[in-house]
Amino acid sequence: MLSYDNIRSDDLRNWIFSEVEFHPLALGKAEAVMSLGNGYMGLRSASEEPYIGEKRNLLVNGTFNKFDEFEVSELPNAADLTRLDIVIDGTRLSLERGTVTDYERSLNLRDAELVRSFVWEYGGKKIRFRFRRFVSLDRLHQIGLLAEITPLEGGDVSLVVRSGIDGQATNSGSQHFHEGEKRIYDKTYLELIQTTTESKVDFVLGAAHHVKINGEKTDLAPKMDIDRRRVAVSYSVKLEEGSTLAFEKLATVFTSRDREFDGDSSLDRVRQTALEELRSMHSAGYDALFEKHCAAWAKVWQQYDISLKSAHSFDVLAIRFAIYHLVIMTPAHDHRMGIGAKGLSGEGYKGHSFWDTEIFILPFYIYSNPVVARALLEYRYLGLEGARAKAKENGYSGAMYPWEAGWPSDGEVTPVWGQVDIVTGEQTKIWSGFIEQHITSDITYAVWHYYKATGDQDFMNRFGYEIIFDTARFWASRLEWNEAKGRYEINEVVGPDEYKEHVDNNAFTNYMAHFNIQLAMEYYETLREREPRLFEELNRKLSLEQAMAEWIAKAKLIYLPEPNESGIIPQDDTYLQKKVIDLSPYKAQSKVGSIFDDYNLDQVGAMQVSKQADIMMLFFLLEDRFAPEIKRANYDYYEDKTLHDSSLSMSTHSILANDFGDGELAYKLFRRATEIDLGPYMHSSDAGIHSASLGGIWECVVLGFAGVRMLGGELHLNPSLPDAWEELSFPLYWQGQRLKVELERHLLRIEADGEAEVSLTVHGREMKFTKQLQISY
Ligand code: BGC
Repeated sequence: MLSYDNIRSDDLRNWIFSEVEFHPLALGKAEAVMSLGNGYMGLRSASEEPYIGEKRNLLVNGTFNKFDEFEVSELPNAADLTRLDIVIDGTRLSLERGTVTDYERSLNLRDAELVRSFVWEYGGKKIRFRFRRFVSLDRLHQIGLLAEITPLEGGDVSLVVRSGIDGQATNSGSQHFHEGEKRIYDKTYLELIQTTTESKVDFVLGAAHHVKINGEKTDLAPKMDIDRRRVAVSYSVKLEEGSTLAFEKLATVFTSRDREFDGDSSLDRVRQTALEELRSMHSAGYDALFEKHCAAWAKVWQQYDISLKSAHSFDVLAIRFAIYHLVIMTPAHDHRMGIGAKGLSGEGYKGHSFWDTEIFILPFYIYSNPVVARALLEYRYLGLEGARAKAKENGYSGAMYPWEAGWPSDGEVTPVWGQVDIVTGEQTKIWSGFIEQHITSDITYAVWHYYKATGDQDFMNRFGYEIIFDTARFWASRLEWNEAKGRYEINEVVGPDEYKEHVDNNAFTNYMAHFNIQLAMEYYETLREREPRLFEELNRKLSLEQAMAEWIAKAKLIYLPEPNESGIIPQDDTYLQKKVIDLSPYKAQSKVGSIFDDYNLDQVGAMQVSKQADIMMLFFLLEDRFAPEIKRANYDYYEDKTLHDSSLSMSTHSILANDFGDGELAYKLFRRATEIDLGPYMHSSDAGIHSASLGGIWECVVLGFAGVRMLGGELHLNPSLPDAWEELSFPLYWQGQRLKVELERHLLRIEADGEAEVSLTVHGREMKFTKQLQISY
């Protein structure tokens, strides 16, 4: 069970959540939702002492490896640095034996620190344990761990602590590394090298320790141990009752893929840098390193300074939780990397990036840290290489983005086989990598969104136009002419609703492809007029003139499904003819996907049942193309048939409910979105947190309740705070200025940090201001 109100002091109110009972059968939840990281690496919060069923993950962004030709590339699970084997009077510490009291494992979001404490009674002894851990935001390669052990009752104990670097870690059995050298320098600095088998990325991991008793450093000599894929040291000590042993473990993680080794990523250089870092960490010690880490996090909270006064303090915690995870999952340091659908908090989705980034996470960065938004889009620019390869392999032109992306040049990396089919007992085939194609226009949409909100012309010239043109070239080649109907169609796809495979004319896909081509046509003209040199360059590279002729001929003939006589837009050609079943048992489910306990995917495909927002996504992205009454009618029709089995679904529905003026529903759905990872259900996050849902929480707040939108390049605000909220404030970057937006129930204040005039529309009223605005709404 998680607890949300363990308030230690007023200044930590709504910054901490805890697990207050040890659950040997539900380890995954806390491991994932309390995971630590810094965008460079992610460390799952498995406990120091090991348990069956745990997942000890250390994932370094961008280090993809393909285990063999039958698997797709994934982030390899690097050697474990956190395990400690603690033996007391000859018995290994395990919470599955003896008596455990005062148990608490908590994550302090403000300082990004994991703390676990308990009292363990065993063999007549009572011992207090306290573990602390951080992954430094100040120095991206550092991990700090501190264990404090105090015998409270029953006399002195004989204690052995074994600590090291364990390269036996795998990704659920796939061993991604060749075994490398292991060494202990000066009987102090442990080093383990591992190299990925296919991508040949070298990992250099280091660890060093301090042992203190009652605050005094000891000079205990460790027993050293090197074994297959492992290097370790053990310290043995007699610890008196009432004394505290503090065991510090300072660890470093470097890889040859790290930016700082550009130009010379030789193993020698990486090793040397790693050893220097480890020596300097060791001389600084846990406390000093932790202090710097906290200072780096203080800057994060200044940057993403959202504040909220709500009658429900959980809301405040949930927003901070979302921002915390968004920060630790994002490789802000390196534009060659994307954001994984589970961040770096687990092996789920293999570290791959989906449309989750562009549609659910990017808006957070566009409006609160555009530099990072740009880096994420540059990753997609680099990904043009893989996207062009995918288009070619499939017989198309231009750039066809992979549904799942890893290293930019990899192209498509979606695995082909998934879960069990409950009818046939075989594995279900995953079709997304072949036919879920809307990702291509989602990326283009994101480029446009970023450009319109920031005005970053340099980005457009260097990257944006090329993405827009080459994706439009793909769509033009993808369209299929239907002679009988005299229109272009897009057949045999999966739309956002993944419970409908092999459908024709998924409305979302068709409208977004149309949007993509239209945008390219618009920018073709703009570029030709304003930047003839750049136009010529791109024309040579992408045959733009020829492409434009094709866009002109085809765009107006693309089939865009219109509302039927009841105002319903068919999600695809056959959806509305499928049978309707009573979904109430599945709608009341406590775990997602319960419909698959009764049906397989083919059977679900034959019913009017949706996994997630589909047409609703269209209303969210192209909102000014549809009349409000059409949106409402479709919302009512489709929501009824939507199981929200994807974590991406709830936030979109909440935002739309707000648009319809149904604040109560919007808030209810927002609360459900906040509970996907942070809520009480103990298995929802086992494979990792849900990145898009966390971005979606920010979207609910800023795009939903504050009603921030970019429409046709203009800034709009349609605030309507839920009843439970009294005040909300957040930063909003717009056209190069940072605005501080403050909302009360009927009052809006905005302060700009620059001098430029800001134009915006608030609930339909156009206005302009410089520096400050205060209005009632
Ligand atoms: C959803 C997709 C999403 C993916 C990764 C799937 O379950 O249906 O829309 O992109 O998860 O989060």
